[in-house]
Amino acid sequence: MKDVKKIELHLHHEGAAPPAFIRGLAAEKGVDLSRIFREDGTYAYRDFNHFLSVYEAATSVLTGPEEFARLTRAVLEESAEHGVVYSESFLSPDFCGGGDVEAWKDYLAAIRQTAEEAERDLGITLRGIVTCIRHFGPERARAPAICATETAGDWIVGFGMGGDEMVGHQADYTWAFDCAREAGLKITTHAGEWGGAASVREAVEDLNPARIGHGVQAIDDPALCDVLAERGIVLEVCPGSNVFLGVYPSLAAHPIQKLRKRGVKVTVSTDDPPFFHTNMTREYEGLERAFGWGEEDFEEITQTALEAAFCDDATRDTIRERLKP
Ligand code: ADE
Ligand code: ZN
Repeated sequence: MKDVKKIELHLHHEGAAPPAFIRGLAAEKGVDLSRIFREDGTYAYRDFNHFLSVYEAATSVLTGPEEFARLTRAVLEESAEHGVVYSESFLSPDFCGGGDVEAWKDYLAAIRQTAEEAERDLGITLRGIVTCIRHFGPERARAPAICATETAGDWIVGFGMGGDEMVGHQADYTWAFDCAREAGLKITTHAGEWGGAASVREAVEDLNPARIGHGVQAIDDPALCDVLAERGIVLEVCPGSNVFLGVYPSLAAHPIQKLRKRGVKVTVSTDDPPFFHTNMTREYEGLERAFGWGEEDFEEITQTALEAAFCDDATRDTIRERLKP
């Protein structure tokens, strides 16, 4: 499975930071982060809300463009190791310069340069999706949206929202999403990881996204599944993340296969791999075990991801070539 060529569309850049990398930075800076690690060195948290706070604590030691460049290299090496040839990662200006546009541009330049080096060395292409963070509130979402519009182009290709889905409503963030859409950015938003099918419906009706992060709880509303299928809205499904966080008790109970059977377009991603003890190889192996997925199934998933990628068509053509055996 490791060698199967893959596309990943839902990866939080900081959430992909290896724990040893964060521990090393904390030690260099004299910051005590022992509370966020278990004895075996993995990240320690109790539930989703605690995960979000551990995530922010880990991210707090990542400061400056140079450190984000190092992070980018580590993330791309790990992804390439698992057969990923194209990846889109969520980048948060809140964590890269505190929402300041000039600082953000410096972070982005460093990330992009490292990604271009990795593309040459490792054969993996990265594109960025700027994200606002829902539980920081609608007012704070404006700065990331402005950062996104100021850097929209062939590399920053999308705008999205992560964070605690139970805070507020998608419509509260319309200003930020409209701003990004006007700059030509494609839209994705986290919904239906925790907030049920109603949350997915809200996202579809209020933000008209091309893709939805997770979206899996749509399975509880058959009519909504039909809307997703008819409109070709693509779900960025992260099965391992959902099982690890307890959204579903097991992979066998995960709705990815049922969604697919109803005609909903699904893709497969890791979300925050070291937090959920996963990687793309494990995701594929799990789907093979739980649902008997084989070559044709993975091929279909990859083609869906290729078509749903936010990159330009020239990049899509390059990736299509790279996927060939
Ligand atoms: N940020 C990082 N991982 C996330 C997740 N699974 N859901 C919402 N926000 C996130
Ligand atoms: Zn996510």
